[in-house]
Amino acid sequence: MKRVLITGITGQDGSYLAEFLLKKGGYEIHGLVRRVALEDPEHRLWRIKHLLDKISLHAGSLESYASVFNVIERVKPDECYHLAAQSFVSYSFDDEFSTIDTNINGTLHVLSAIRKKAPKCKFYFAASSEMFGKVREIPQNENTPFHPRSPYGISKVAGFDLTRNYREAYGLFSCNGILFNHESPRRGFEFVTRKITRTVAKIKLGLEKELKLGNLEAKRDWGYAGDYVEAMWLMLQQEKCDDYVIATNETHSVEEFVELAFNCVDLDWKDYVTIDKKFYRPAEVNQLIGDYSKAKKILGWRPKVSFKELIKMMVDSDLKEIRS
Ligand code: GDD
Repeated sequence: MKRVLITGITGQDGSYLAEFLLKKGGYEIHGLVRRVALEDPEHRLWRIKHLLDKISLHAGSLESYASVFNVIERVKPDECYHLAAQSFVSYSFDDEFSTIDTNINGTLHVLSAIRKKAPKCKFYFAASSEMFGKVREIPQNENTPFHPRSPYGISKVAGFDLTRNYREAYGLFSCNGILFNHESPRRGFEFVTRKITRTVAKIKLGLEKELKLGNLEAKRDWGYAGDYVEAMWLMLQQEKCDDYVIATNETHSVEEFVELAFNCVDLDWKDYVTIDKKFYRPAEVNQLIGDYSKAKKILGWRPKVSFKELIKMMVDSDLKEIRS
């Protein structure tokens, strides 16, 4: 049995990855979680509720080197997926200090503890298309220069560099997955896609009257999270560690997402959407579109769920959840 440690196992990607590895078989799965999560499983462990008897959870805090070190010493993982982060870009403008602290030091703590206690462990870092920010070329690939536009993006560039440096300096098998936006029915409600599909479902069921949004013109490359966790795993199964863009190579505006989501319930979005400046960001990333040809060629990976299918999946799931 291979031992795997997932930080951020309670999140969208962590839960899909744990499911994926359990299905693959041959994995003993460990997750690093905050103590508060163990004390409040109803609210904080809902995404992995159905897996709790098949995985082991360890209380720890990414901000504390000692606690990360202890968990890695105990688990001695063969593979580590470092997914935990303050991942809401908008919030990183309100509290840049905690975003920078958790995302940069957290990554450094995990890398350093692995180097000391499990140097053969293969390491995956959840890098992000937010690193491209004010994009220098279209579409973005592994060689596109970074120009982050938020404390979150800056923290991910630092994590990317740390991951690459541990590879070059200490020979660690460490990979960066540069994932573009990826969504699902398990997405947090603060992200625009889930905010839209949840509110559309509530409007359809008569529980809400309007949907307040910020910048409708921003464009994103949106894929399905369930597809993207397979790419994470594939990166760690290669002979050589490397960095990969994972995306769909399609870009759509927030407005297009809104329109299609309302279409799913036969409503016209223009009757319900209002603009609220409070959802605008001090600096916006206007357009992201990823070129995943390297992942296709080397990992044999490609996205399976289309943009339209993704929206329908999320709206249907929200309707079902609210009805029940
Ligand atoms: N959240 C939110 N809420 N975003 C809005 C809203 C709103 O009411 N109205 C418009 N937007 C726009 C944002 O300005 C942004 O351009 C876009 O919708 C997407 O916002 P989010 O869903 O919050 O995601 P993100 O693109 O900032 O970041 C996500 O993707 C990254 C990968 O590119 C997060 O998952 C990051 O953690 C991830 O790294």
